Amino acid sequence: MALRTKKPGAASDEIIPLQRKDLFWTDGQINRAERERRNKHRSCIIWLTGLSGAGKSTIAQELEKFLFAQDYQVVVLDGDNVRHGLNKDLGFSQEDRDENIRRIGETAKLLMEAGIIAITAFISPYAKTRDRVREIVPEGDFIEVHIECSLDECERRDAKGLYKKARAGLIKNFTGIDDPFEAPEHPEITINTEKLTIEQSAKTIVHFLSSRGYL
Ligand code: ADX
Repeated sequence: MALRTKKPGAASDEIIPLQRKDLFWTDGQINRAERERRNKHRSCIIWLTGLSGAGKSTIAQELEKFLFAQDYQVVVLDGDNVRHGLNKDLGFSQEDRDENIRRIGETAKLLMEAGIIAITAFISPYAKTRDRVREIVPEGDFIEVHIECSLDECERRDAKGLYKKARAGLIKNFTGIDDPFEAPEHPEITINTEKLTIEQSAKTIVHFLSSRGYL
């Protein structure tokens, strides 16, 4: 990693390496377990992955509404919203998508450490990149949910009109059209939104969370 900065005595900006050894981790005085005890539930990351239009955001919002009504601490991080702010500098190349997911993974982890159930709704098309997020949190706390829906059906729904644009060549590298989606091989949960209603989909996740002691 490099940092653009002015070295003492240097005429102008230059790149100097940021020394990781000069960084120090500081533990807070209140830890995750204490926050979970106060909240009366455990925290985790519920990672929804799937094609655009598969139903990730809708299910995330339904799940959030349900959990919030039951007094759980819950927050949704959503694809399009995060790309308006935190990640507005990123596009849709593989490199940018990876960085998008890396930042979201770190953000979701911060929320989880604050005792919150973090629900994320991003295409997150690359299996390796999702696995990297799984690796930064304790085992079991990353719950991968494949929101499964055929490309045909996503295109038929086309709520944002983006598939039409992608087919017309107006959007390049569109997931499912001319960019890959690597479905998870061993997700904790698979939800097929061509078979289940939004409510049934959210309930499926709630049952999983209960069975694993998160709720
Ligand atoms: S990800 O691949 O990096 O995980 P993310 O979930 O943040 O993607 O954003 C996907 C959303 O961006 C889509 O739902 C769609 O609204 C919009 N979008 C714009 N261009 C593209 C593209 N080339 N591929 C996929 N989604 C796109």
